[in-house]
Amino acid sequence: MKKVRKAVIPAAGMGTRFLPATKAIPKEMLPIVNKPSIQLIVEEAAASGIEEVIIVTGRGKTEIVDHFDAHPLLEDSLRRAGKDALLQEIIKATQLVKVTTVRQQRPLGLGHAILCAAHVVGDEPFAVFLPDDLVDSERPCAAQLIDVYQRTGKSVLALMNVPREETSQYGIAAGTFVPDHERELLIEALVEKPPAAEALSTLAVVGRYVLDPSVFDYLRRTNPGRGDEIQLTDALAQMVQKQALIGYLFEGERFDAGDVAGYLLANLNWARKTPRLWRSVQAWVKAHG
Ligand code: UTP
Repeated sequence: MKKVRKAVIPAAGMGTRFLPATKAIPKEMLPIVNKPSIQLIVEEAAASGIEEVIIVTGRGKTEIVDHFDAHPLLEDSLRRAGKDALLQEIIKATQLVKVTTVRQQRPLGLGHAILCAAHVVGDEPFAVFLPDDLVDSERPCAAQLIDVYQRTGKSVLALMNVPREETSQYGIAAGTFVPDHERELLIEALVEKPPAAEALSTLAVVGRYVLDPSVFDYLRRTNPGRGDEIQLTDALAQMVQKQALIGYLFEGERFDAGDVAGYLLANLNWARKTPRLWRSVQAWVKAHG
C-alpha cells in the first residue's frame, strides 16, 4: 500500500460569503484566535503524516504563500528583542511540511482546482483538505481517513450527519454501512447539494478526502455542473460506478469557517483551549448573556 504523503489544499475560491472582509484578504488568512485558519489545516496535515501540501492559489492569495515562507527580517527582530517563544512559533509554522503552490488561473470550480495539482501529486494516493472545514478532534480527521485507506486501499471521504433541511449545502452520500465497521459506508451514490426532498440520505461529505490518483482522469472528463463549476462530487459520482469509495463518519467536531457564524463558533471553540481567553469570554457572556 502506498503511503499518503501529499495533500492538496484548494484555496483559490473567491470567498463571497465573507465579503467585504475577503475583498483584499484571502479568507484562509482570517485568524482563528491568533493563527490564520489555513495554518490549522497545515498543522492537521502534518499531524496526519503528510509530508508535502500543495496549496492551490489564485489572484489575491499571495499572503498565504508568504505565511509559510521564512521572514528573516521579522525573525531577526524577534531574536534581538529576546522574544524567543514567538520566534519559535513563527519558525515552526514554516517547517511543518514542505509547501508547494500551484495556481488556478480561473475559478472554474473545486474539481478544476484539484486538477491543477495533478502534475505535483503524480501517481500516488493523496489527501484533500478543504480549508473552510476545521475539525477539532483527538485524532486528526485526515489521520482517521488515512487509517481507513491503509486498511482498505479504497478512496475515503469524510462524512457527517446533518439535519435534512441542510442537505442542499453539501454533497450527499448514500450507501450501505460495512458490517463490523459501523463508521464506514460503502458509497453507492453521491449527489451535489440536493434539495431536502430529493436527498437520498442526510450523510454529508465534509472537506477531508483520501483519493486514488485515478480521480484525475474522472475530473478531466467532468463537465461543469452546479453553479457552472467543475465539481469534485460529480467526478466522484462517476468514479463510484467503477471503484469502491468509502464514506467515514469521523470522530470530532467540524466548523465551517467559510461562513460567518461557523467562523465565530470556531473562534470560540479554539479560544476555549486557552484558559485566560476563555475566562474573558465567560465574563463577557455573563455580563451580556
Ligand atoms: P466554495 O464553494 O466554498 O467557494 O469553495 P469559495 O469561493 O471558497 O467561498 P464562497 O462560497 O464564495 O464564500 C470550496 C473550496 O474550493 C476552493 C475554495 O477555495 C474552497 O476551499 N475553490 C473553489 C477553488 O480553489 N477554486 C474554485 O474555482 C472554486
